[in-house]
Amino acid sequence: MENSDKKDFISTISHELRTPLTSIRGFSQTMLSSWDKLDDESKKRFIKIIEEQSNRLINLVENMLSVTKLQSAKDDIILKEVVIKPILETVISIIKNQYPQKNFELKINDKTPKILVDQDKFHQIMTNLVENAAKYSDENSTIKIETNFCENCEFVAIKVTNTGIGIDEKDYEKIFTKFSRIDNPLTRKVQGSGLGLFITKNLVEKMDGKISVSSKNNITTFEVQLPSANIEKQARAKCKR
Ligand SMILES: Nc1ncnc2c1ncn2[C@@H]1O[C@H](COP(=O)(O)OP(=O)(O)O)[C@@H](O)[C@H]1O
Ligand SMILES: [Mg+2]
Repeated sequence: MENSDKKDFISTISHELRTPLTSIRGFSQTMLSSWDKLDDESKKRFIKIIEEQSNRLINLVENMLSVTKLQSAKDDIILKEVVIKPILETVISIIKNQYPQKNFELKINDKTPKILVDQDKFHQIMTNLVENAAKYSDENSTIKIETNFCENCEFVAIKVTNTGIGIDEKDYEKIFTKFSRIDNPLTRKVQGSGLGLFITKNLVEKMDGKISVSSKNNITTFEVQLPSANIEKQARAKCKR
């Protein structure tokens, strides 16, 4: 990392870490000092906030580690045949906890092929995209996550769609670069490091996939294409023949 990048990195990251940590500390302190005065409902609510904020920290730390790792040549990707649905269900339940006022619609055909990816990295990619969709969408709106595939296609596509402020076509490339955030009233209101999509694109491409965005009439869709395990099997079968 260059020196100026390092400074950016450290200042955005410390800012991003502070908010969830302050909240975790605050709610823990309140519970410790007022345990007997709090009803069960409040205790549960506070613990839930602590859980949400911890999840937020975990995502953040994962992204931080990725940025430093992306720069090193060492390849730590472990490709396996992965079933998409359960991972997306986990990702959605975690993000739903952080954004309870948003609705999530998961549409996955049972015939969707497995994909050949690193499971943790795939989780991270989808967390970044679903989190953005929740973060930059209209109040009480619905975020749609669906797959698209064909039997013998090389890739399985996963689309994340939300309604909201959208992205100008001139910014399509920019948002995938390091520390880039689009300046508008909404992004000024919500926190972010501008690293999520940079990391996401890098991880997708390391696994031989593709990522693209399109935004029109307030509808924004991010599409990730990842290698289908079907094709891999056929290729291997061919080699054996
Ligand atoms: N679904 C979306 N709708 C509108 N803008 C988006 C969406 N996803 C990403 N963006 C824009 O792309 C920028 C970069 O995203 P990202 O790299 O995840 O950084 P961060 O979320 O930390 O700001 C965001 O700051 C936002 O301006
Ligand atoms: Mg983000």
